[in-house]
Amino acid sequence: MESSLEKKFIIDNNGAVLNIESTATFLGISTATVRNWVKSGFLRTIDANTKNFFQKQDIENVKLRIANGDLEKLSGRANKVNADKVFTPNEYIHDKVNLDALNCVVDFIKDNNIALLSAIFLVSLNLLKKEKILLEVDIHDIIEKNDLSIVNNEIGKEIKSWLSEIEAKNMKENFSYLLNCDIPKERDVLGFLYQSLLAEGEKSQSGSYYTPANIVDKIISEHVKKDSKVLDPCCGTGQFLLAFSDIIENPSNIYGIDSDDIAVKIARLNILIKFKDKDFIPNIVCKNTLSDIGNYDLFSSNNQNIKDFDVIATNPPWGAHFSSRDIERLKKIYPEIISLESFSYFLIKSLGLLRNGGTVSFILPESILNVKTHRDIRKIILKNFQVKKIVCLNRVFKNVFTSVYRLDIEKSENKDGNIQICKEDGEHYAKQSRWLNNRDFIFDIHANGVDTEIIDKIYRINHVTLENKADWALGIVTGNNKKFIVSEAKEGFEPIYKGKDVERFALKETPNYVQFIPEKFQQVALIEKYRAKEKLIYRFISKYLVFAYDNHQKLTLNSANIVIPQIPEYPMKVIAALLNSSLYQFVFQKKFSSIKVLRSHIEQMPLPLWDKKTFSEIVELVDGIIKGEDIFGKLDDYIMNKFELSQKEKNYIIKFNK
Ligand SMILES: C[S@@+](CC[C@H](N)C(=O)[O-])C[C@H]1O[C@@H](n2cnc3c(N)ncnc32)[C@H](O)[C@@H]1O
Repeated sequence: MESSLEKKFIIDNNGAVLNIESTATFLGISTATVRNWVKSGFLRTIDANTKNFFQKQDIENVKLRIANGDLEKLSGRANKVNADKVFTPNEYIHDKVNLDALNCVVDFIKDNNIALLSAIFLVSLNLLKKEKILLEVDIHDIIEKNDLSIVNNEIGKEIKSWLSEIEAKNMKENFSYLLNCDIPKERDVLGFLYQSLLAEGEKSQSGSYYTPANIVDKIISEHVKKDSKVLDPCCGTGQFLLAFSDIIENPSNIYGIDSDDIAVKIARLNILIKFKDKDFIPNIVCKNTLSDIGNYDLFSSNNQNIKDFDVIATNPPWGAHFSSRDIERLKKIYPEIISLESFSYFLIKSLGLLRNGGTVSFILPESILNVKTHRDIRKIILKNFQVKKIVCLNRVFKNVFTSVYRLDIEKSENKDGNIQICKEDGEHYAKQSRWLNNRDFIFDIHANGVDTEIIDKIYRINHVTLENKADWALGIVTGNNKKFIVSEAKEGFEPIYKGKDVERFALKETPNYVQFIPEKFQQVALIEKYRAKEKLIYRFISKYLVFAYDNHQKLTLNSANIVIPQIPEYPMKVIAALLNSSLYQFVFQKKFSSIKVLRSHIEQMPLPLWDKKTFSEIVELVDGIIKGEDIFGKLDDYIMNKFELSQKEKNYIIKFNK
């Protein structure tokens, strides 16, 4: 039970604190595992009085470290537990009052151990009855595989072929509940049931998280017209296809592909029911979109040119797992995609299937915007297409923790138009040509007009960068901190610094000591990097740039990395001053909006080629700060003045940093 103190704590901390259940869900493990991880020191609770509560930031860091492979043992555990779990995707249901009834159906299927295909089939018949497409049905008709009396010809064929795949011997009389129970009216009930019964491991392997209706509807209302020709290239059970059919009159203009045959069966049935009064064969097939769909033979061999879609909209699989055979094939078909990322393959394939002037609208993870791995697809998009709109949707899927973005791209002659950016705190426009000018083609959505002017002003000054002009080193990975790190300064031991011991300009005292025997540790950089005459040490997992100057050859653990600038005549203390300044904080956050400080970020920060006098004035201020003088504001102001920022711009930066 939460004590009132604990409840108050959660409220006071405004979401910065997670209870044990949210922590378990966030990491994809059980609460028992969370307790074990606390016991073994992998996780830290807030303090002894609030023992079931965790700092959200700490848990995010653990998650990041798992993702980075830093905590392999934990990662294995998290993945395994994750894979066995089944989650109902509540977000998929439009009207939340329907959830209870639908969850009863899910529970019935699980309790009776009914095979997935059979269960979905029985519920489909229930829906057909409700729609008066199927006149009567009894569980014995299924067991005996009788012909069913279906009024719609195509639906009849569909059901017949489905029935032929059902294992009649496993059908039991009491399964008739599924034929007769009350199924609430929702757009894609079958898709919800399918997702609810699919193991989490399977969903994440194929990237199969279906998209909530409100997000889909918004895309459709902005792009689709009555006579549009549209495609979802990985349609799942057809959420997008059903939304298309709210507007499009001719079902033959609606195309869908998916590699999951059960999902395709459901999607076909969904669309047939939606247009139950029309006689047509759905253009929805089970194929591998990335390797089996040519540009001239979408579903048949009629050699029709299909580069003519008006709208291609979907939520493609993210980070899907490919077999080594698939990878070889994909590398040949799409040599320009180096990342091997599934959403990038889907983007490039879909852009190829559009008519000129057509639009692709995709739901994507935040990493598309700025992570270096996705530089490949960003470059292709910026050089060949026009990004029209980027919408921040925040968190969308129950068990996926990244922020989600909608990206609308037009196949257009004009590649230098304005991009509309919609975020929680408002809307602004950015010029595509600006994004083409940065090294990693970052979609710099956090900078508005004023921000961009300030950033441009800084980059206009003649400058160098640390790219190819610095040595880099990671902190030490001992492999067992409990064994190697002690909390008192014993004979032969020396201090070792973690990320949290790094402060602007200087290291703070650390309670951690180590005996430096490199061969005993799991990962150690070249010794001369730690022992360099001068170096900068920076926090790796951090929203902020925090750089300490070190000329005492200190050791660091892997949460504190090292850079040793090698620019002749450029004092290291000036680099520290710039990187620690409020101005560079602003540039870093606007450009990268990252919670990790990466080498590639630091390499893109400009180091102005000022004169010697300026350098020595800055060094003097830095020395004062290192000695403990309270002159950080003075240094900050000095730097902003050197960039000739106006008072208004300076106030803007100061306000941003507050
Ligand atoms: C995230 S789900 C999206 C489903 C649907 N578009 C939606 O938004 O609700 C991704 C879908 O991609 C399908 N998929 C994965 N790889 C595929 C491939 N190579 N070809 C076709 N479909 C694929 C999965 O089966 C899954 O249904």
